[in-house]
Amino acid sequence: MKHYAIDLETLKKEVKHRVVFDKTAILLIYKEDNVYAISDRCPHMGASLANGEIENNTIVCPKHNAKIDFTNGKVIDRAKILFVKFPTKDTVSYPTEIKDGKVYIDV
Ligand code: FES
Repeated sequence: MKHYAIDLETLKKEVKHRVVFDKTAILLIYKEDNVYAISDRCPHMGASLANGEIENNTIVCPKHNAKIDFTNGKVIDRAKILFVKFPTKDTVSYPTEIKDGKVYIDV
């Protein structure tokens, strides 16, 4: 189901923006005229990714540094606690659409 999420100009300024639809937390990320949407629950232990650092096309979980490609939800680097890496599944990504300056997500 398609939901209005945010005005594009606002997202451009914020770069990352968290929304919740029907208890599903989603993180929107603006990059180079595209908008991406992934689950805002880290696939390792569920932390929010909203405060994670963006590196190229990835976002780094602030909790244990799992690195996720926000263009498709794939895990690039697993969660790490001390020197041990833990299994980390890919996360969910959602289709987005920009129409008349507004961003919509298909959830
Ligand atoms: S909760 Fe994100 S890496 Fe552990």
